[in-house]
Amino acid sequence: MDATANTASAKLTVGDKSWDLPIHDGTIGPQVVDISKLYGQTGLFTYDPGFTSTASCESKITYIDGDEGVLLYRGYPIEQLAENGDFLETCYLLLYGELPTPAQKADFDFSVTRHTMVHDQMNRFFTGFRRDAHPMAIMVACVGALSAFYHDSTDISDPQQRLIASIRMIAKMPTLAAMAYKYSIGQPFIYPKNDLDYTANFLNMCFAVPCEDYKVSPTLSKALDKIFILHADHEQNASTSTVRLAGSSGANPFACIAAGVACLWGPAHGGANEAALKMLTEIGHPERIPEFVNRAKDKNDPFRLMGFGHRVYKNYDPRAKIMQQTCHEVLSELGIKDDPLLDVAIELERVALHDEYFIEKKLYPNIDFYSGITLKAMGFPTDMFTVLFALARTVGWIGQWKEMIEDPSQRIGRPRQLYTGAERRDYVAMAKRK
Ligand code: ACO
Repeated sequence: MDATANTASAKLTVGDKSWDLPIHDGTIGPQVVDISKLYGQTGLFTYDPGFTSTASCESKITYIDGDEGVLLYRGYPIEQLAENGDFLETCYLLLYGELPTPAQKADFDFSVTRHTMVHDQMNRFFTGFRRDAHPMAIMVACVGALSAFYHDSTDISDPQQRLIASIRMIAKMPTLAAMAYKYSIGQPFIYPKNDLDYTANFLNMCFAVPCEDYKVSPTLSKALDKIFILHADHEQNASTSTVRLAGSSGANPFACIAAGVACLWGPAHGGANEAALKMLTEIGHPERIPEFVNRAKDKNDPFRLMGFGHRVYKNYDPRAKIMQQTCHEVLSELGIKDDPLLDVAIELERVALHDEYFIEKKLYPNIDFYSGITLKAMGFPTDMFTVLFALARTVGWIGQWKEMIEDPSQRIGRPRQLYTGAERRDYVAMAKRK
């Protein structure tokens, strides 16, 4: 453990016994009470459903201060990275811990670009799916299937193989994502073009067709690149924790990332931008906002305002601010002046930010609130939104997986439980059951 030694300790008292529990300091953020020996010493487990008070690992990658609305990748504020750099620079930073020099960046870009093609046999996978399959279903399958093709990068004990697997996944995710999209609309796959940068290449694979020239808009490419930076990592969220847990058993990296893709699919996580856009469409007009806001506040109605609230941010999500600005840039580039969804979004945000319920519960717009409108304007169908999130988050998952594998104290993740089921009882023969 690299955390700073702290002489302070916490005292746990149960009945007439008490134990001292060590406290560790991180660089910034809350201290942690070390309970790793608690069960051995006391016979007690801790109980924390949803892990709201549990640090599951030590990490040097991403820091979030949810109360202040701060997000740092390797110490650098997300605003500065999104404003000044590109996505592959962020990938390098997340993977290696430092911003690249010009030579390192050129090398990294070159490696990623040279790995964008997928094995041609992968094409056959797609034809096995229904055309109306959700692209996330296709992604879960195809990302997991990469381990059936790249046997030379599945030995997790070899640092070189880990590196190649990392580069391969960052490079091939856009290709697979674009293939999932093309398959759903019945268009031929477009192969990667090495003279385009990472994000322009992705847009080209999505929107070009073989029969005519397609020119990627630099404004849209820059905007999408920024969206990728905003989504690149987010500490120990549900999908990242899934990747770490899957990886803790020694599973190969492609299988672990497929597990992350599956977790991200849920509407409370990566599926929220799709859900937010559907909700804005359902609201349809600013006049109907009070009705939906009232439903969100009604304890007896399961409806929630999608794109609002966050497990960690109890302040404005710093990514949401950048996303809102990017949304305006994209709409203006595309000449969309009066977008009814944007009107609803702006008014809904205004109403919610002034409503007692949302203020008291600290529910602010999250990144998903504006990303759906932006991606839709770019031409992506709603069911591709989570796929784009998965594409961008791949580097975060890999960085966190790599950090875990390289941590000498790493052990298989094995949470315990508070059992409330039946006590021991004897089997009753079928004929005797009532
Ligand atoms: N609309 C209305 N009420 C809400 C909302 C919402 N969007 N979010 C939370 N609340 C209320 C809850 O009803 C609860 O009220 P209560 O204390 O009276 O019971 C309170 O706020 C706390 O909510 P929890 O669900 O306990 O908070 P948690 O931290 O577990 O949930 C979550 C966070 C899942 C993101 C939640 O805010 C939500 O469902 N939001 C909508 C979905 C969404 O936008 N998800 C995207 C997350 S960002 C991402 O994954 C990139």
